[in-house]
Formats: sequence, structure tokens, C-alpha cells
Amino acid sequence: MKKLKRKALWAQQKKERRFSHYSMIKRKKRRLDPTRSLNTVTRKQLKSATMANSSCKVAIVVDLSFDTFMDEKSIAKCVKQICRCYSINRRAANPVQYHITSLDGASLTEMSKNSGYQNWDVNLHGKHFTDLFSKEKIVYLTAESDHLIDKIEDDHVYIIGGLVDHNSHKGLCHRLAVEKGLRHGRLPIGENIDMKTRKVLTIDHVFNIMVNVCNGQKWKEALLEVLPARKGAQEKDTDGNFEDEEDCDAEEDFDENENSIADEMDSCETDPIST
Ligand SMILES: C[S@@+](CC[C@H](N)C(=O)[O-])C[C@H]1O[C@@H](n2cnc3c(N)ncnc32)[C@H](O)[C@@H]1O
Repeated sequence: MKKLKRKALWAQQKKERRFSHYSMIKRKKRRLDPTRSLNTVTRKQLKSATMANSSCKVAIVVDLSFDTFMDEKSIAKCVKQICRCYSINRRAANPVQYHITSLDGASLTEMSKNSGYQNWDVNLHGKHFTDLFSKEKIVYLTAESDHLIDKIEDDHVYIIGGLVDHNSHKGLCHRLAVEKGLRHGRLPIGENIDMKTRKVLTIDHVFNIMVNVCNGQKWKEALLEVLPARKGAQEKDTDGNFEDEEDCDAEEDFDENENSIADEMDSCETDPIST
């Protein structure tokens, strides 16, 4: 009899236990969210915090013209990262003007798995970015560039290579930018923080850092917030010394977070704007 009662009570409390478990996970996720300290929007403010209403006119483009350099798995990872960029931008108080270009072929097929993506607050283009923006305004972001991005210019167009390659195509984006006669630049990582691992970052990390700086953070703050400490990102020591680079792949870091990102994308499958 006692056993039966206990069983009934256990079943009765199941819902409550589930609720508190998921609340705890949600709180933990929020605590770990790199955009948390920014002036991020609440769910209620989402409707008005659009790219059109934003005071930030900086354009950030993810160039998806690299399908032939990736296998199916890497294309899927790449699309997950651009979805993560979308969710970062949606939560920013002042979203950047986010564009995805060369969205066709395999990346379009992968993107189409996100139902309702056509309604998201992002500019989607099948065309190459050189057919959409004037050459004078374009700056290709690449870790191999000799030029430092110091200031983000309001009317400029910053391109991130939509390439997940575990650096098997080292320097590819830099080469392409030079070939096309485009301006290029690297993020000021070594100038602001010590980083033990390589300075080639994932698409979403580059995007997140740019959004944070556009929303008023200093480079140092943005870099320390976005780059994981376990990858060796730390405050620069007072002498400005820089430790030797270790050949450790930043893209692995995204893989570790994939599940939580997938959860997050589930919740914004249909953009709140369109609902
Ligand atoms: C995973 S990386 C791709 C690495 C690739 N091997 C290449 O040729 O660039 C994805 C993109 O993030 C951007 N990126 C990564 N690290 C960067 C850095 N330190 N400075 C500027 N852009 C960076 C570049 O646009 C790059 O194409």
C-alpha cells in the first residue's frame, strides 16, 4: 500500500520535476550566452528590434560560395553556424545588416531544412556578393591578412567566408580576395588578447565579435566574451607578450556547442517576427 502511494506521488510530481529541470537548463544556457552582457533584447522587444529599425548600418555578409570545397557534413556545420549568426543578430539591441550570399546548390538544400527561414530578418541572395555591393565598400575578413581591422565603418560591407574546412584550405579566402582586388583585413586578436590556439576563428565567432563591437563593446571585451577561455583566450599580460601558437582547431569548439545551438534554433524555427 505504502509502495503504491509513493508511486502515485512520484508520478504526480513528474511534471514539476521536469519543469524545474528545464528551467535550470534554460538559466544555465542564458548564463553561458556570450551576448548576455550586451544590451540584448527581450522576447517582447524582438518585433521592433529589426535590421530596418537598427541604428547600425554595417553590413556583414556570409559568403556561401565554397560548397565545392566542403563535404556534406561540413556544409551542414557551416549552415548551423550561419543560423547561429542569425540568432546572435536577432538578440542584439542594434542588429547589423546581415546578408547571406551565393545561397544556392547544396547550402540552399541544407538551409531549407530550417522551416520558415525565408521569413527570418536576414537578406538572402542567390547571387555572389561582388554582384550585389560596390567593390569600394567591400572588406574581406581573413585571418591571413596583413591589414588590421581597427574601426568598423558604418557604410562598409564585411565579408566572412562561409567555409568550414578545419583549415585544410589554409589562406583560400585571402587568396581569393587578393585575386579579385578586394580590400581585406584581420580581426585585432593578438593586439588585444593572448590566445594560445590558432587565430582562425569559426564563422559565428567572427560574426559575434563584429556584432558586439558594433553594439558598443571594445575589441578586447568582445574577444574575451566570445572566445572560450579553454581555447586559451585570456587578458594580454602587461608586457604584451604573445605565447606560441598551438595547432588547435577552433572549429572543434563549435562542434562541442552544436547540441545547445541546435536546441536554440529549434526555438526560433519560425521567426518571432513572422508569427
Ligand atoms: C573557419 S574560417 C575559414 C578558414 C579558411 N581556411 C580561409 O581561407 O579563410 C571562416 C571565416 O572566418 C573569417 N575569419 C576567421 N578568423 C578570422 C580572423 N582572425 N580575422 C578575420 N576573419 C577571420 C574569415 O572570413 C574566414 O573565411
